[in-house]
Amino acid sequence: MSSYVNVEYEQPGRCDMRHAWARIPEEPSQSRRAQLKEMIRNELQRQNAVLVSHYYVHPDLQDMAESCGGLVADSLEMARFGKNHEARTLVVAGVRFMGETAKILSNEKTVLMPSLDATCSLDLGCPLEDFGPFCDQHPEREVVVYANTSAEVKARAHWVVTSGCAVDIVAHLHQQGKKILWGPDKHLGHYVQQQTGADMLLWEGSCVVHDEFKAQELQALKVQHPEADVLVHPESPAAVIALADVVGSTSAILQAARQRSAQTFIVATDNGMMHRLRGQNPHKTFLEAPTAGTSATCRSCAHCPWMAMNGLENLFHVLTTHGNAIQVPPELARRARIPIQRMLDFTAARGSSSHSGASNVGGGIVPGIGAA
Ligand code: 13P
Ligand code: SF4
Repeated sequence: MSSYVNVEYEQPGRCDMRHAWARIPEEPSQSRRAQLKEMIRNELQRQNAVLVSHYYVHPDLQDMAESCGGLVADSLEMARFGKNHEARTLVVAGVRFMGETAKILSNEKTVLMPSLDATCSLDLGCPLEDFGPFCDQHPEREVVVYANTSAEVKARAHWVVTSGCAVDIVAHLHQQGKKILWGPDKHLGHYVQQQTGADMLLWEGSCVVHDEFKAQELQALKVQHPEADVLVHPESPAAVIALADVVGSTSAILQAARQRSAQTFIVATDNGMMHRLRGQNPHKTFLEAPTAGTSATCRSCAHCPWMAMNGLENLFHVLTTHGNAIQVPPELARRARIPIQRMLDFTAARGSSSHSGASNVGGGIVPGIGAA
């Protein structure tokens, strides 16, 4: 078995300080890596199972998904692909809400994850016991929640959105005269509010990775690289978003890197994305946006500790044991499916966030709101 490194994270949630433990697998040796890849490939084939990986997981798991007929994608496309794929077993390499969404959409399928403890600070910071009463206090508002939430919180919502479609869906609701109650990511909520002009009441959650990007240091890096375009995920603080040329989901960031003429990019998102950005654009230069400097209280590694819990060793283990199967009680799944399906129907009708191939892009690119 592989060994793990324990990492403690603190999430200043709305109610108290929350602690979560990420157990990050150690890198297997080169020979073990090759052996595991071969065994995983065989197991996927033998079980007619498909691997769906997020852009933030280890490069090996991204490559395995792509080379074994699965998908590497953002959270919206992961949900859509798992639902539409004929395989009876979905293996989701990402964080727990992604596996839960897959199960909610395909209750008849077996959904496995390398680790069931791979959570998300947004999900942790928005428990139903606190979010439910917040919703109850504002019955006149449409409840819109980010996909990075538990099945229970989704079941309490009218709409689920991802960063690939949040602006479009809230703009649509705003046009219908609806007021929004938004959870859990305050930065994404603020960004969506600015883009749409909607009346939004925001929950106070944030992502431990994106919250660490620093505007002052990003500005200094821009001065050093005036030729670079800045690509920012909207979970980042407003001051960082204000310096962006492009703001968008992980898929939108990949699309921008391929399509824009710039040869150098500064990227403010989880550095798991660098594998794909560099792979798709071998002649372009990608720099990580700063997470440290004089305005930082600590140095962040810009990598999600929970995404990092996915490794070859625990992927192979779950494939052979079927130990980490996601379970969502059928009645809860029925209620949570309604707002997720609403999002899938909306984006399919708009045609803005759908694609068929692993390496194509999804979410529409929202132009940056700051100076280039
Ligand atoms: P995407 O929807 O852009 O894939 O983002 C998911 C996520 O967890 C970002 O931190
Ligand atoms: Fe959650 Fe942030 Fe990790 Fe994404 S990167 S899964 S938002 S903690």
